[in-house]
Amino acid sequence: MAEEVEMGNEMWGGRFSGGVDELMERINRSIDIDKRLYKEDIAVSMAHVSMLVRVGLLKREEGVQLEEGLTRVLGEIESGKFGFHDHLEDIHMNVEHRLRELIGPLAGKLHTGRSRNDQVVTDVRLWLRGEIDGLEILLEGLQRVLLLRSREHAGTLMPGYTHLQVAQPVTFGHHLMAYVEMLGRDRERLRDCRVRVNESPLGSGALSGTSFPIDREHTSEILGFGCVMRNSMDGVSSRDFVLEFLSVGLNMSLHLSRLAEELVLWTTEGFGFVKLSEGMTTGSSMMPQKRNPDAAELVRAKPGQLLGCLSSLSVVMKGLPLTYAKDMQEDKKSLFDAVDTLTLSILVMGEMVRGLEVDKVSMRKALDKGYPTATDLADWLVQELDIPFREAHRITGRIVSEAERLGLQLSEMPLELMRETDGRIGEGVYEVLLPERSLDRRTSFGGSSPACVLRAIEEAERRFLRDRGGEEK
Ligand code: ARG
Repeated sequence: MAEEVEMGNEMWGGRFSGGVDELMERINRSIDIDKRLYKEDIAVSMAHVSMLVRVGLLKREEGVQLEEGLTRVLGEIESGKFGFHDHLEDIHMNVEHRLRELIGPLAGKLHTGRSRNDQVVTDVRLWLRGEIDGLEILLEGLQRVLLLRSREHAGTLMPGYTHLQVAQPVTFGHHLMAYVEMLGRDRERLRDCRVRVNESPLGSGALSGTSFPIDREHTSEILGFGCVMRNSMDGVSSRDFVLEFLSVGLNMSLHLSRLAEELVLWTTEGFGFVKLSEGMTTGSSMMPQKRNPDAAELVRAKPGQLLGCLSSLSVVMKGLPLTYAKDMQEDKKSLFDAVDTLTLSILVMGEMVRGLEVDKVSMRKALDKGYPTATDLADWLVQELDIPFREAHRITGRIVSEAERLGLQLSEMPLELMRETDGRIGEGVYEVLLPERSLDRRTSFGGSSPACVLRAIEEAERRFLRDRGGEEK
C-alpha cells in the first residue's frame, strides 16, 4: 500500500479532504525537469503582474510587492538557496508557494486570470526562443571554424567520392564548404521555426480565456513575443512548435553525424587524411597504440537521440483531444534532452574541426590511386575532337583499363598507347590528366576549383555578416 502524502496540494486541494497517494505524487510531479524553466516562469509572472496592475486588477502597491517577492525568489534560486519541494509538483507551484512564504496571502492574487496551462506553455516558448538563439550562435561558430579551415585548404587536393569510391579531384576546402552550406540551411530552419515559437499563448487561461479584463498584447509585448495567439484552446494545447524544433534539430544532428562519420573514416589507417587533436581522442585501456575518435563516433550516434525525442513527443501528441492533458507535461523531457544533445554536438564538432591535422600527402596518394581524371579525359575528347560523349566515355574506359593493367596513372600513360585506343588523341591531352589541372578547370559555379572555393568562402563570409545586420564589405 502506498503511503499517503501528508499535505494535500495547497494550490488545488480545496475540494480534497485528505492527502494524495504517494504514487500519485510520484507520477504527477515534474519539478526535477521543469525547474529548468525558473527564469522564464518568473519573467512570465512579472509580465502578468505588470498587466494586472495596468488593467486595474491589482493595486500599484500590490504589484510592487509581488514583483519584489518574485525578484527575491529568483535570487534564491540563482544562489542555490531555494528549497524545491516534490509535493509542489512543478516549477510554477514551487515559485508561488515560496512567494506566499515571503509576502503572505497577496501571493494568491498572482494567479488571477491565469492557469498553469497557459503559464507552462508560455514558459516553454520563451525558453526555447532563447535556446534557438543560442544554437544559432553556436552553429555560426562552427561555420566560422569550417570557413577558416576551408580557406587554409582551398587548394588542398583530395579525392571526391561517390559510392565511397574515388570519383573526381576536389579540394579539402570544397568538401568542408559543403558542410558550411548544410549548416547554413539548418540556421535558416531554426530562424523560421523561431517565428512560430515566438507567439504568446499567455492569457488563454485554462482553455477558454478569462472573464477578467486582461490585456494580452501588453504581456506579449513585455515578453518580446511576435504576436498573440488567436485561439485560447489552440494556445494551451499546441505543441507543434516543439515538434517543429525537434525535426529541425534532427536534421542538424544528421548533418553533424555525416561529418562525424567522415572524420572517423579519414582518421583510419586506410585513409589517413586527418589526425584529430590529442585532446579530442581517447586511448584504449588494452592497446597502447590506439587513438580513438570517440567524440566523432558519439556525434555520429546522436541522431538516434534526436529521433527518439521527436518520435516520443509525436506519440504523446497523437490523437490527444483538445485541450490540455497531463500527457503534455512530457514535452519538456524530450525538448531539454534534444537541446542539450545538439548544444554539445555542435561544440564538440567545432573543437574537432579546429584541431584537425591534415595530411596532404595521404590525400594526394589516395587520389593517384583512383583514376580521378578519367572524366577529364572523356571531356577533353568531346571538347577537342568533337567526339560524342558516350563514345568518349567508351574510349576513356579502355584507356583506364589499360593503365590499370600496366600499373600507371593516366598522366603517366605513353601517348602511343593511348593512340592505339584512338588515333585522334594528341599531346594536348596531358593538359587535363594531372589532378591539379583537372581541378583548375572545374570553374562552373559551385565547382571545386581553388578559385571557386575561395570565391565561395568570401561570399559565405559576407552572407554571415549580412545575417547579423552587420557591415557588408
Ligand atoms: N507541470 C504541468 C506541465 O508541465 C503544468 C500544467 C499543469 N496543468 C494542469 N492542469 N495540471 O504541463
